[in-house]
Amino acid sequence: MVRSFLRDTDLSPAEAAEVFELAHRYKTTRGAGVLDILNGQSWGLIFFKKSTRTRLSFEAGVYELGGNPMVMSSNDLQISRGETIEDTARVMGRYLHGLVIRTFEQEMVDKFAKYSGRPVVNALTDLLHPCQSYTDMFTMMEHFSNGAPNVESLKGKKFVFFGDTACNMAYSLALAGSMFGVEVVLCGPEEFKPGKELDVLFDSANLEKSYTFTPDPEAAAKNADVLYTDVWVSMGKEDEKAERIKQMSPYQVNDNLFKLADKNAIFMHCLPAHANEEVSESVLESPRSIIFDQAENRLHVQKAIMSWLVQKNRQLNG
Ligand code: CP
Repeated sequence: MVRSFLRDTDLSPAEAAEVFELAHRYKTTRGAGVLDILNGQSWGLIFFKKSTRTRLSFEAGVYELGGNPMVMSSNDLQISRGETIEDTARVMGRYLHGLVIRTFEQEMVDKFAKYSGRPVVNALTDLLHPCQSYTDMFTMMEHFSNGAPNVESLKGKKFVFFGDTACNMAYSLALAGSMFGVEVVLCGPEEFKPGKELDVLFDSANLEKSYTFTPDPEAAAKNADVLYTDVWVSMGKEDEKAERIKQMSPYQVNDNLFKLADKNAIFMHCLPAHANEEVSESVLESPRSIIFDQAENRLHVQKAIMSWLVQKNRQLNG
C-alpha cells in the first residue's frame, strides 16, 4: 500500500498535526542546512491548469528537500494526443518517485495514484484543493497560537467562506476545518450552495460535519474570527463572468462585513485575488490581511506533506 494525499481526509487529524509540526520546523530552519529526505529522487509536477503559487512552491520545495523537480505541462505529454492516464501513470511510476498533479477531474488523480504505484499529491482538482486548505489551517494556527502553532488553537474559531460555496476551495476548507474543530460557515447565493458531493466526501471519510450554509452574509460575518474568500470566476468558467459578478456582489468581503466580525478578525484568500470584486481593496491591503503568509506557507506545508508521505511509505513498504 502506498499512501497519497488526494483528499483532505487522507490523513487523520493526528497525522495532519505531524505535518504541521514538520512545516513549522521547515519554516523556522529554512536555509540552515541541507535536507536530504528526497535525495536521489525525481518528482514529477504535472499541470493541466495554470498556476503560480503551486508550481513555484512545489518546484522550490522538492529542490529544498534534496530532490529533482520535473515540471510538465499536460501539453508537453502524449496525454494531450490521447495516451491513457493508466499507461502514462505506469510509465511515470518507472521513472519518478512521486507525483504532484493539478487537473480537472478528481478521478484523474485517483487513477495516477492507483496506476503509478507512487505517492501522489493533489495540487488542485475541480473537487478539492487540499494543499491549500492544510496551508490555511497551518496559517491560522500560527496566528491564533501562543508560541508554536498548535491544532488546539483552531477549536471553536468561527471561519466564514464567502462566495461560490460549491467549489473546490469551499469543500476542502469545510473538510479540513471539520477535522480540527473549526466552526465553518459557507456563505453564498442559494444557487451556489454545496452539492451532495460534499456530503459524500464527509460520509466516505466518516467525518462529522462542523460546517453550515447560509445565504445571509451579515449573519455569517457576525463575531467571525476569519473572513475568507476566493475568486468568483474559477479557471475555465470565464464565459460566466458577468452573470457571476451580479450574483456574487452581496458577498464581497469589505469593511462593512468586518464591522460585524470579531474586533481581531483576519482576512484570508488563497490567491490570485481580484481587488474590488470578491474583496475590497481596503480589506485586501489592510493589516488584517494575512494573504502573503498563506502564500509563503504553501512552501513549508507542501515540503512537510511530501516528507511525511516519503517517511510513512518507507515505514509501510521498507
Ligand atoms: N492558490 C493557488 O493554488 O494558487 P495558484 O493557482 O497560483 O497555484
